[in-house]
Formats: sequence, C-alpha cells, structure tokens
Amino acid sequence: MKKTFLLVASILILNGCHNNNETSIKNNKTTQIEQKVDSLLKLMTIEEKVGQMNQYNGFWDVTGPTPKEGNASKKYEHLRKGWVGSMLSVRGVKEVRAVQKIVVEESRLGIPLIIGFDVIHGYKTLSPIPLAEAASWDLEAIKKSAEVAANEASASGINWTFGPMVDISRDARWGRVMEGAGEDPYLGSRIAEARVTGFQGDDLSASNTIAATAKHFAGYGFSESGKEYNTVDIGTSTLHNIVLPPFKASVNANVRSIMNSFNELNGVPVTGSSYLQRDILKGKWGFDGFVISDWASIGEMISWGHAKDKRDAARIAVTAGSDMDMEAHVYIEELAELVKDGIIDESLLDDAVSRILKVKFELGLFDNPYKYCDEAHEKEMVGNPKHHEAVLDIAKKSIVLLKNENNLLPLKKEGQKITLIGALAADKNSPLGSWRIASDDHTAVSVLEGMQQYKGNTLTYKKGADVSVGQTAFVNEVIINTEDKSQFKDAIYAAKTADVVVMVLGEHGFQSGEGRSRTNLQLPGVQQELLEAVFKVNPNIVLVLNNGRPLAVSWADKHIPAIVEAWQLGTQTGNAVAQVLYGDYNPSGKLPMSFPRNVGQVPIYYNYKNTGRPTDKDNNVFWSHYIDVEKTPLYPFGHGLSYTTFEYNNLNLNGEIFKIGDTINVSVELKNTGDRKGKEVVQLYIRDLVGSITRPVRELKGFELVQLKSGETKTITFNLDNETLGFYDNNGDYIIEPGDFQVFIGGSSTDTLGAKFQLQ
Ligand code: NOJ
Repeated sequence: MKKTFLLVASILILNGCHNNNETSIKNNKTTQIEQKVDSLLKLMTIEEKVGQMNQYNGFWDVTGPTPKEGNASKKYEHLRKGWVGSMLSVRGVKEVRAVQKIVVEESRLGIPLIIGFDVIHGYKTLSPIPLAEAASWDLEAIKKSAEVAANEASASGINWTFGPMVDISRDARWGRVMEGAGEDPYLGSRIAEARVTGFQGDDLSASNTIAATAKHFAGYGFSESGKEYNTVDIGTSTLHNIVLPPFKASVNANVRSIMNSFNELNGVPVTGSSYLQRDILKGKWGFDGFVISDWASIGEMISWGHAKDKRDAARIAVTAGSDMDMEAHVYIEELAELVKDGIIDESLLDDAVSRILKVKFELGLFDNPYKYCDEAHEKEMVGNPKHHEAVLDIAKKSIVLLKNENNLLPLKKEGQKITLIGALAADKNSPLGSWRIASDDHTAVSVLEGMQQYKGNTLTYKKGADVSVGQTAFVNEVIINTEDKSQFKDAIYAAKTADVVVMVLGEHGFQSGEGRSRTNLQLPGVQQELLEAVFKVNPNIVLVLNNGRPLAVSWADKHIPAIVEAWQLGTQTGNAVAQVLYGDYNPSGKLPMSFPRNVGQVPIYYNYKNTGRPTDKDNNVFWSHYIDVEKTPLYPFGHGLSYTTFEYNNLNLNGEIFKIGDTINVSVELKNTGDRKGKEVVQLYIRDLVGSITRPVRELKGFELVQLKSGETKTITFNLDNETLGFYDNNGDYIIEPGDFQVFIGGSSTDTLGAKFQLQ
C-alpha cells in the first residue's frame, strides 16, 4: 500500500475548498479527481498506459474462451510490470488482496487494479434472474436487489460489476433474454436506472457500493434468428427508439462503464464502431466513464472480417473508443507499437486511461486499494440472513399469475391431498438460474421444501421425469431427457387421487444464459407428455413454470386451469412459490416480454407497427397475419393476474387539445373489486397516430404500482410531456410532431380503456 499512498500524495496537494452546496461539492470533487488523473498520466510510460487498458481474467471462473497464451505466469509478470489495469472473476478477499498486493507493492507506479465480476442477479445470495425481477415492475425492489448484490460483492473484494444488461430483446430464442429487462425500452430504461443506482449508490467511494456497467452496447439482443453471437442488422429507427434508450438512461444515471459487444451492427462490429462509441456515447451523450470490450471482442473483429490481424484490431478498437480490452490480449500486444510507429496518436491512450483512472479514483481505490478487503466483513456480509429476506421479497414480487380458472389458486391450507410433480419441484440447483458464479450449487430452497412448510395438507411428491440427464463436455451445458418416461407411472398414480396436482415444469437453469439459444420454445424433453398424461387422470392442475425465457405453452393455456410463471427465482425460490400458491402473498407481477403461441411467431412484441394491412376488411387472405395461428401472443406484454380483481374507470384528460411543451394530465380510477387486498401495475400507453417515422400501435410511457384494499378506489394520475410524446428520427434526433394521439390505461398492453387528444 505504501507506494500508492506516496504516489497519490506526490501527485497533488489539493486545497479543500468546501462549500455547503451539494452540487458544488460534487463539482469540486470531480475537478480534484481530474487534476489527480492528469498528474498521474504525466508520470506514465506508454507501456503503463496500455497496461491500464488491459484486463485479464483471474485463473478460474472462466466465462469465455481462454486465449492460448493466457497462462498464469505471464499474467503474474504483467501484474508486476504494471501492465494490467483490471482483473475479472477474481473473487474473495484473499484472492483480491493477493493480486492487488502485487500491483500496489511491486509495480513502478502502484496503480490499483479495478476488480470486475459478473454480479448479474446477486453474488452468493441470489435474487431472481433479471428478466424475472423485471416482471415485478417494482423499481424500489429492483434497486434494493442490486444493493444487496453490491453489499455482498463489495464485501468479497469486488469493486465493479458487469451489470446491468440493458439489451432489449424481442426474441425468446436468444438465451440471454434471462439477463435483461425484456422487450420494452421504457420499462427497460427505468429498470436500468434502478439497477445502476442500486449498485453504485450515492457515493461510489463507499465500501459497499460498486461501479456498474450497462451492456452490451449495442444491439446484441437483436441477434438474427435469436442465434447467439450472430449478425445484427436493424434499421436506424429501431436502433434509436428501441435499443439505445436504456443505455442513455444508464448514462444519465451516471453509470461508470459501458461494455460493448460481440455483435456487428449493420456491418460494423460494435467494438470497432466509432459511430456508437465516439459519436453517440461519448459525444452526444457526454459519457465520462470508460468502455470495456466484451470478452475477446476486440480480437474477434478478425473473425468478423473487419480487422486483418491483431494490430489492425487494436487500431480499430482504440480509435473507435473501446477503452479497455477484456481478455483479447490485443491491446497489451499491439498498442504501444502502434503509438511508437506513429499509426495512432498517444492522445487516444490518454483519453482511455484518464477515463479508467477517473473511475478508480472515484471508487477510492487510490486512498485505499484494500478498502474492499476485510475478511471479517466478508464473513458477515456474504450470505447474510438479511439478504435472504430481501431476495425472498423480490422473488415473490417477480411471480406472474398467467391464468387462474375457477379460482383454483390460492390453494386451501387444510384438508387437501396435494400431489407435487416434476423434477424441477425438488431441484435446488436449477432455480438459481444462469450467471451465478459466486454462489454455491444446490443452495436454492426448492418448491418441495417451500410447500413442506405448509403442514395442513397431505403433500406427496413424485418426480415424473428428469429434465436433464447430465452435462456435455462444455461448461454447464445440460443434456435434456428426451426419452426416459419410466417414472411417469408413479406420478400418474399419485395424481389420480389428489384434490389438486401442482406440476413444476420448464427449463433447466442452464438452458438459458450466454451461448444458450433455443429453436424450440416448448417445455423441454418429455415434460409436455408428462403434463398431458397427468391431465388425463386429473385435470385439476396448477402448472408452475420455471424458465429463463418466454415459453410457448399453448396446450397448457388451453387445458390447464391455473398457470404460474415462476421463472428462476434464486436462493429463495421455493419459499416464494409456496407463499404465492397458498395465498400468503397475492401475486402482482406482469410480463416484461410477450409469450408466443409458437416459436414461429418470434420475434413477437406489443409495440409493433400497424402495417398497411392490419385487418381482414374484405374477408380475404391479403392482410398481415398467419394462416395457421392467430397473430396475437399467447400472453401479452404487461399481462398478469391477481387473486383479487381490478376495475379501471373514468379515464380523464385535462383537455383535448394541447400545445407541444404542455404537460398533459391523464387520470384514471382504479377499484379493487375483489375480496382481498392486492397490488396492480397500472400501465399507461400512447399511440401517436401519424408520424414522419411510423409509430408503434402502443408505447408504454408510464406505470405505477398501486396497492388497494378490497373495495378501495384510488385515482392515479400520469403526466405526459415532451419527454414521453416524442421519438427519434432516423438521424437519431429527438423530435415531437403535432398530431392526434390515443392514450390507454389498464392492467396489460391489450386493455382498451382509452381517450384521444391532439398536439398542436
Ligand atoms: C461475456 C459476456 O458477454 C459478458 O456479458 C460478460 O460480462 C463477460 N463475458 C465477462 O464474463
């Protein structure tokens, strides 16, 4: 530590001009940091600058293909030389301290490492997968979940997370939809802000906050045919109106880093895109944090056919504004020579390094590089019981009641014979979901364990069939059971005499996530057959779905009376599910992604364009539809039921004609018409009827969570203004056009209570 202290002291003695005004204190702090960065930069050699732009993986927890030359001894040597600015996937105070000690004590300038990690939905204590959390529409709870994750990760030595993933996606085939907030840019933006502020808090220098990363910039969620790492070819309107808003919202929320991506966008790998990184992100938006590449994405521009070799890839990436190289080893091998040969200007390095150092200063790493390294604190915080309470809370809030015929749910608490079926019902591993490298395997509360807490009924458990029958040679890739039905018999027998059968079916936790695209969205393996076989003997079934993406469950929707979307809910899965099934928690989740009727409808999303032929006016075939399935989704975006019922009435506007710039108030009365208290996500959508760029049939522009007692009524008011009534044109400029609008308020994207207004 000595070196760093000496260094920082020698950089600058800053005068502490204090001011009570919070903004000026902040500005003052920023200026001080900028001065320190400038002074430090002056001391650095070209190699040391390049070193700050180099990130290596730790020696375990590999989350991407390992470069051949990425051996441990080279990494140690580079740490000592000050040629490494960051490490990822090093975890635990002991390990973090060990690598930090090398750079701080042995490298010439002792610049501390920033330690990155994929804290995606918790660290050791796991929250629901991010897509599930998005179904809560509860920004406070989502923020809290990120805070819990930051508490645990920071206590374990981590100071930077590669989250939130803010990629909008309309394609359930893409395995990474589990990591995002779904299909909508408005909801996605609000959730991005909540997650960024949850991770970063108000004070980045506090020892329980970590720097966040909005990823993957940009367009990755639009991979063609949902195939991982594939080409992305989207129009400018989709880019500016759908893909970019959550990134912009993250930048506005002061996210400290942005990760670029594996994909190309309209012919240019985004890692090498000056348009995205320099013009939009750092230019138009004024982003002052730094850009980290995705794993090896700088080198992968060679395979894309955009760079001829590593040297070319380094030149393209640094010129385009990629500040740090994650595990491509391209910057460390090529950048210094490129500067020395006069191919690139050293100012490009200075810009990148300044951004990286700035964040390190903001984190307080120069004041104390070991500020995250306290074993006693780590022991107390990681897996703390309070965190279990917090993740249980968000897990319950993430559950979506898709269907509930004849009020089969909630289950009666006494005198019932309940048969629980499904391998996933007793699974303690799969509900943890993908991306949970710091948690322990098999540590989720299973649904079986959760239901066993309710002692008034007779509960019988039968597996019915395995979901997976092993793993391939690849990391965590499961082999699905497509043949073995030998345990069907037992389950069918136990179902026959039950009052209610609860079936937990769906995807294994490792069927979604990175590298896990699917072309089939039905229940995997033999589970559909199992469901149908049990249904034949007892149709009184509650289907609990476990999945990391929307599934196409049309048969179940037609036949099964009650369906609960329970995703992968993390550590407290079973308790959350049981409390919802038994009505101790009244579900209020709403889908953040449309569920298709079959995979052929994908991509399917609520904010589609009307087309020139939206309906079958003349009873003929020439309109925009399918001939073999309805064109609507099985369950639309925003859908979700409750054990109570809600009624929307009296939608009112404070006028009919408004001027651009006016604030329009839209109010509605919401009444709880059922017999128990409940929460509703009140959603406001607009439609701009005519636009110079055609507008979607609906766009979410506001939502509020409202809790009402039975019989209670409340008036909810939303404001529409310049920020919500405009859109981006094809130059990426935000414009508001006069014209006719519709506004809709309801409990789903398909509710029809609406009104009209005009903007002049
Ligand atoms: C690749 C993934 O795309 C990215 O999201 C992740 O943060 C890095 N690997 C590091 O694990």
